[in-house]
Amino acid sequence: MTSTKKYAIISPMTTRIVKINENEPEKDIIKDAAAILKEGGLVAFPTETVYGLGADALLPEGARRIYAAKGRPSDNPLIVHIADFEALDKIARNVPPQAKALAEAFWPGPLTMIFEKTDAVPYETTGGLDTVAVRMPEHPVALALIRESGGYIAAPSANTSGKPSPTKAGHVALDLDGRIPLILDGGAVGIGIESTIIDLSCLGEQIPMILRPGYITKEMISSVIGAVQDDPGLVQEDANVRPKAPGMKYKHYAPKADMILVNGAKADATRRINELAEESRAKGEKVGIICTEETAGLYQADVVKNIGSRLDEDSIARHLYEILREFDDLDVDKIYAESLSTPRLGLAIMNRLLKAAGHQVVDV
Ligand code: TXA
Ligand code: MG
Repeated sequence: MTSTKKYAIISPMTTRIVKINENEPEKDIIKDAAAILKEGGLVAFPTETVYGLGADALLPEGARRIYAAKGRPSDNPLIVHIADFEALDKIARNVPPQAKALAEAFWPGPLTMIFEKTDAVPYETTGGLDTVAVRMPEHPVALALIRESGGYIAAPSANTSGKPSPTKAGHVALDLDGRIPLILDGGAVGIGIESTIIDLSCLGEQIPMILRPGYITKEMISSVIGAVQDDPGLVQEDANVRPKAPGMKYKHYAPKADMILVNGAKADATRRINELAEESRAKGEKVGIICTEETAGLYQADVVKNIGSRLDEDSIARHLYEILREFDDLDVDKIYAESLSTPRLGLAIMNRLLKAAGHQVVDV
């Protein structure tokens, strides 16, 4: 097993950032990137959800390098990205019929499924688990790179562990410059939050469980396979109820500032946020506010960031991580954020906001 030490020492290297056509990726660039992967090296690349930090999923050395570059604990397993459904045979066992149905409905796309792993997948890739997470991404650059490099790319989000996931190549460069050889810049991603994860590895005993909410909602999944459940660890305030996806237990997406979510009806929440902002400023703190288009004109603070209209959830998801990164650059001390329980992506968006806020919520 790899060391669980944060920040393994790695020798600094020059990071190339290469622009690539996001719809028709240039073949020579893909070949060059695939050659790095085949040698066990790392390449950051765009997917439709967030940028991934890729390595050959079947080479233990590849996974080791990912953990070292990200400063990620090595018990936090990686998602294996494939480009064809048939590729599952080599890496997953006892794939249930529900998987085929879900793949037909949502692959390629932002859904990750967990299965029992085969011996082809090294424990370095699965963080020591006997299960493997698999996703077929929709982005043309990701698909071309997977095919050219042999069919299996392990890729976590391409951020330093604990930072918001990158939605642009520039975010990757800020976190990983000097730690990886190549970043493929395919522009801003379309979705902006990570894939939905569903566990199909223990269907004999229980109904499928959503381990991480995302763009593919519980309703969309149950319309294809019937009953599904949410991991109780996702919504549970009780610290003893651990989330089942190892990565969900770590404090993630953490901005440098202390962040507090304010939950309540629009007028009450707005008033309370202004009061809290005033109290913080009186203490000499630099204050940021995350609001929506509907409320943007109602706040006084050092920095007010509008995350998008409540009527356009896709846009909120797309801008969420970028806005958290912008607050880091502005060195604010406190962030007050409106809570966003929008109808379709509300759970996925709130899951990220709650983690960024370390679960600090004020109800009004
Ligand atoms: O959209 C995405 O899923 C992006 C792009 C790059 O594909 N990837 C991504 O990977 O978000 P990462 O490593 O940041 O998050 C993977 C999550 C972690 O919470 C990890 O613990 C969980 O998936 N996971 C991976 N394999 C697992 C397994 N076998 N059992 C339970 N959870 C698993
Ligand atoms: Mg991540």
